[in-house]
Amino acid sequence: PNDVGILAIEVTFPSQYVNQSELEQYDGASTGKYTIGLGQNNMGFCSDREDINSIYLTVVQKLMENHNIKPAEIGRLEVGTETIIDKSKSVKTVLMQLFEPHGVTDIEGIDTTNACYGGTAALFNSVSWVESSAWNGRYALAVCGDIAIYAKGSARPTGGAGAIAMLIGPNAPLVLDRGTRATYVKHAYDFYKPDLTSEYPVVDGKLSIQCYLGALDKCYQLYCKNVNKKSNIQVDLNYFDAVVFHTPFCKLVQKSLARLALNDYVQTPSGQRQEKFPGLEKFENVKLEESYFDRDVEKAFMAFSKEAFTKQTSPSLLIARQVGNMYTPSLYSGLVSLLISKDISKLAGNKIGLFSYGSGLASTLFSITVTKNYSGDSALHRLVSGLSNVKTLLAQRVKVEPSKFEATLELRQKNSHAAPYEPTGSVESFFPGTYYLTKIDEAHRRFYDRI
Ligand code: ACO
Repeated sequence: PNDVGILAIEVTFPSQYVNQSELEQYDGASTGKYTIGLGQNNMGFCSDREDINSIYLTVVQKLMENHNIKPAEIGRLEVGTETIIDKSKSVKTVLMQLFEPHGVTDIEGIDTTNACYGGTAALFNSVSWVESSAWNGRYALAVCGDIAIYAKGSARPTGGAGAIAMLIGPNAPLVLDRGTRATYVKHAYDFYKPDLTSEYPVVDGKLSIQCYLGALDKCYQLYCKNVNKKSNIQVDLNYFDAVVFHTPFCKLVQKSLARLALNDYVQTPSGQRQEKFPGLEKFENVKLEESYFDRDVEKAFMAFSKEAFTKQTSPSLLIARQVGNMYTPSLYSGLVSLLISKDISKLAGNKIGLFSYGSGLASTLFSITVTKNYSGDSALHRLVSGLSNVKTLLAQRVKVEPSKFEATLELRQKNSHAAPYEPTGSVESFFPGTYYLTKIDEAHRRFYDRI
C-alpha cells in the first residue's frame, strides 16, 4: 500500500479547566510564572467521573461516529498510555466493548507504555502493520491518552489531560515519510512512576528539560543525516513548513525551536555563519551539550528564531496553551492545532516535522507530508472538516476555581485505587458523547455510561 498515514483524527479533552493566572495567585507563585514563564493559559483536568478507560471510550466512539467507520472496518487497535490503572488488563481490552457487540473480535494490537512516547509507538506500529504482510485491508486505529497530574508544587501547573484517536490506512492525506525518521533512546531517571498506588510521577524537572533538549539535538542530527542520505538534501529549519513538538509546556517548545536553529548554526561551516546567522558571531565556539541552560545562547537563538517560531510552530500550540500537557497525545494535539489553525490551501503540500519525547527516555523526530489536493471531496478536506468543532468545544468548557481544582486532585489521589467506589463528580458539564465512570465494584471492576 502507498501513502500510508493518518486519514482522520479525533480529539477529546476535559470539559472543565483551571485558569493559570488564578492558579498562580492561589499557589502564591509570582505573577506571570505560569502564564509567561511556562507559556500556559488554562489547564484541563478530570474529576473522579473520568479515568483512562472513559476518555479512550469517548475518543474512539467519537471517531467512529464522526467518520462513519463501522467496527468491522478496524483490523488493528493500538493504545499508547502512561496512565496505568491495571497492571495486567489493557485499555485495549476495555475498548473492545465498542466492537464485541457488533461481532468484531479479530482486532490486533495492545497497549504500549513509556511516558509520553506511547502514542508515537502506537502510531508507528499501526503504520507498520498496514505496510506489512499481516495487513488484511482494514484500517488501524492508533489511540493515545493520559491524565497528567502532579503532586502539589512546581510541576503541578504543567498538568493536563486528553485523548486522541488516529485512523491509519493507505492513500492518507497525512503521509508518514519513509526512511528518514530518527530515534534516540537511553536510560534516564528524569520522570518516572514507581509508586503504583499514585497517579503522580517522581520528577526531576531540570533533568527532564535537559534530557528533552538533548534528545531533540540527537534526533534532529540523525534526521538531517537520514534525509541527506536518501535525497541528498541538506536539511535546516527552512526544510519544514511546520515543526510540532511534544509540549510539556509551551515555553519549552519555543526554546526547542530555537534549539533547532542552534543546531543549524553548529552544522554550518564557520565561513558561512556570518551570512546565515548575522549577529551570532560570539557563539562561534558554542558546544551543544554545554548549552542546555546557557541563558545567553538561549536568548540569542530565541530572538533569532522568533519569526520562524511564529510561522512554523506557534499555530501548533493552540490546544496545549488551553489544556496543558496531555502526555501521550500532546504531540498529536499539536498536529490537530496546526490543522485547525492554518487555511487548508496553505496546508496542502506541507512538510511537517514532529518531535516525540517520552521521559525515561524514548524520542523520535519524524516527518509527515501533507497531500496537495485540498478540494472539497479530498481526503485532506475530510480530515480537516472532521476537526471543525475543536475550537467550539474549547470555548464551551467550564472554568473552575483553583480551590476546587485542588480538592478534585486530592479526591482522585485518595481514591485512585479504592474499591468499591462511587464517584461523586458532576456529569452536567460533560460534552455530549462523553463516557463516564458510574461505579467501581468490590472486585475493582469498572462500569461506564455515556452522556
Ligand atoms: N514572570 C515571568 N516569568 C517567570 C516568573 C514571573 N513572575 N517567575 C518565573 N518565571 C519564569 C522562569 O524564569 C522560568 O523561565 P525560564 O526557564 O525561561 O527562565 C519559568 O518561569 C519557570 O520557572 P522555574 O523557576 O524554572 O520553575 P520551576 O523550576 O519551579 O518549575 C518545571 C518548572 C521544572 C518545568 C516544573 O514545572 C516541572 O517539573 N514540570 C514537569 C516536568 C516537565 O514538564 N518536563 C519537561 C519534559 S518531560 C515531560 O514531558 C513530562
